[in-house]
Amino acid sequence: MIICLCHPFSDKKVRAHLENAAGRSTVSETYGACSDGKSPQCCTCLETLKDMVKTHNRGQAAA
Ligand code: FES
Repeated sequence: MIICLCHPFSDKKVRAHLENAAGRSTVSETYGACSDGKSPQCCTCLETLKDMVKTHNRGQAAA
């Protein structure tokens, strides 16, 4: 599933990034990593990205 249309990347790319991230991550760090360092344009995808990062960080806290 495509997460961001402005700098297209998929949920697969986000999950791969989060799995490789050491510990907790942030939305801006994740966005930058998945979009080759670009900044969000319309920001429509950020809520979805925020949910994915939050879920990842919750898993990190529980580990
Ligand atoms: S859809 Fe991601 S910044 Fe526009």
